[in-house]
Amino acid sequence: MKQLRLFIPILFAALFTFSCAPKPTLEVPEPYKKGQQYFHEVCSNCHGSDAMGKHTQAPRLIDEEYIVDNFSDADISETVLNGTGKMPPQRKNVSPEKITEIIKYLRYSQTAAGLEAEDSEDDKTEEVLTP
Ligand code: HEC
Repeated sequence: MKQLRLFIPILFAALFTFSCAPKPTLEVPEPYKKGQQYFHEVCSNCHGSDAMGKHTQAPRLIDEEYIVDNFSDADISETVLNGTGKMPPQRKNVSPEKITEIIKYLRYSQTAAGLEAEDSEDDKTEEVLTP
């Protein structure tokens, strides 16, 4: 019986946690599922479902500003571990493996959203040519 008394609050705590965290809405290929899962455990309460930001102060990470050219993998790790002025450090909530998976997932999502690294200049040529 003692075990049951312990189990019930834990069950409720778990249900509560899961029901509060925004759910991922995008289906990602198998290699990115782990990262998506970790992102939704650790980051999405602030950064939103699918890292799309919206109703919190935390920025949308699926954004030009955070593609690899502008915000490197090392920058992401650094941010996660140590936080920033406004973001609390997440050192306690992640392992190096989790950070790696989260970064993989974020890079995939950025590319899937059509955000591309700067060296594919093709699209920009037109704008540059028009005086
Ligand atoms: C408690 C809320 C919270 C959590 C949890 C959180 N963040 Fe943030 N994050 C923020 C806020 C707020 C900012 C904006 C910080 C600023 O403007 O200084 C931010 C900024 C960032 C930035 C951009 C930093 C910059 O210098 O522009 C990255 C990248 C980032 N977070 C990644 C993550 C990742 C990955 C996770 C999960 C491992 C995570 N965050 C978890 C609140 C959070």
